[in-house]
Amino acid sequence: MTSSSPAILGGTPTFPQKLFIVRPVLPQLSDLQPDVARILETGMVTKGDYLARFESAIAGHLGVKHAIAVSSCTSGLMIVHKAMNLTGSVVVPSFTFMATISSLVWAGLNPIYADVDPRTTNLDVASAEAAIDADTTAIVAVHNFGAPANIAALEALAKKRGLKLIFDAAHGFGAKYGGVPVGGQGDAHVYSLSPTKLLIAGEGGIVATNDDSLAARVRIGREYGNSGAYDTAFPGLNARMPEFSAILGTASLANLENAAACRNSAVSRLKERLANVRGIEFQYVPSTDRSSYKDLSLVIGPEFGMTRDELARALDAENIDTRKYYDPPAHRQTAYRQFVRSSSSLANTDMLAARSLSLPIWSHMPDDVIDAIGGAIEKVQHSASAIQQRTTRNP
Ligand SMILES: Cc1ncc(COP(=O)(O)O)c(C=O)c1O
Repeated sequence: MTSSSPAILGGTPTFPQKLFIVRPVLPQLSDLQPDVARILETGMVTKGDYLARFESAIAGHLGVKHAIAVSSCTSGLMIVHKAMNLTGSVVVPSFTFMATISSLVWAGLNPIYADVDPRTTNLDVASAEAAIDADTTAIVAVHNFGAPANIAALEALAKKRGLKLIFDAAHGFGAKYGGVPVGGQGDAHVYSLSPTKLLIAGEGGIVATNDDSLAARVRIGREYGNSGAYDTAFPGLNARMPEFSAILGTASLANLENAAACRNSAVSRLKERLANVRGIEFQYVPSTDRSSYKDLSLVIGPEFGMTRDELARALDAENIDTRKYYDPPAHRQTAYRQFVRSSSSLANTDMLAARSLSLPIWSHMPDDVIDAIGGAIEKVQHSASAIQQRTTRNP
């Protein structure tokens, strides 16, 4: 076998060891040591100064009045839905991570699935409008893979139909809409700070809003629903963020611009590298926006010469880890298919679920690694028919 043979046909793998889909960038121990020592000395492991400082730094960064730290994006979404007193149904994309839907169902709401735009993979505004019914009280949109949703059109739709607008911004730190960070638009943004994101607190989330009364209720909601008088205002959770997570998040915020810049430059580089490879589409991001590129997702079309699943297998042999986000999409998952309506058309969601493949992307990915990923894809495409013949023989 020559070195240009794909590993799935017996060639040498592009990477000698598995290239993980995620490698979190974390601060040095020495950067955190004084604060960790102070937390241990004072015994203030929760509800202390570090949390207050972190929240205020995040509010400043996002340009919002309130940033409330919570234990995860999922708990933040659950609390926001309750704190807003939402009832009935909520329009939401099915092409999203399962927590967008689980938070609605936990809050006693019925998701109504709307389709996504095939180029941006974000909520299609016409499909969202068509999905609204008499019981709808809100729209939940996602900044999918870190690319801002069509915010202005969604705000106009929510206003016209008298609905709340919530952004599941799990992927949103590092994303910009019209030159500013996403965060102040709609009624609330809810972010994730888990290790696959650009801003990392270990685990955690942020609820960002300019609405004073919603902010006050979210603070109560993360504290069991207890406003302080030991009389539950509404059923809440323990969704507090510990002090250790707050110091990790604060240190991570200092690296956010670097992280976003590095991911954007890695994606531009890969786009150039694969410019002549047919059948691959990158997520479309309008030139006025910036994606965080929390995920680097490609759509593998028929012209590529192999299916998405065949490519994933061939890349696995090259020691390149991939993910099939989101396959199955929410409306095909066991717990959530009951919410499908006969009128829902989710053709783009089904197409993207079958063809999307997320590649490794990190906040400090070296150029030679991204070039090698591009080279592996080219190499695999070159041998597409040989690989397909082999798959037909050994399915
Ligand atoms: C779109 C989306 N929403 C919600 C979540 C849940 O975030 P968390 O793990 O912080 O609860 C995720 C997780 O990555 C996500 O991708």
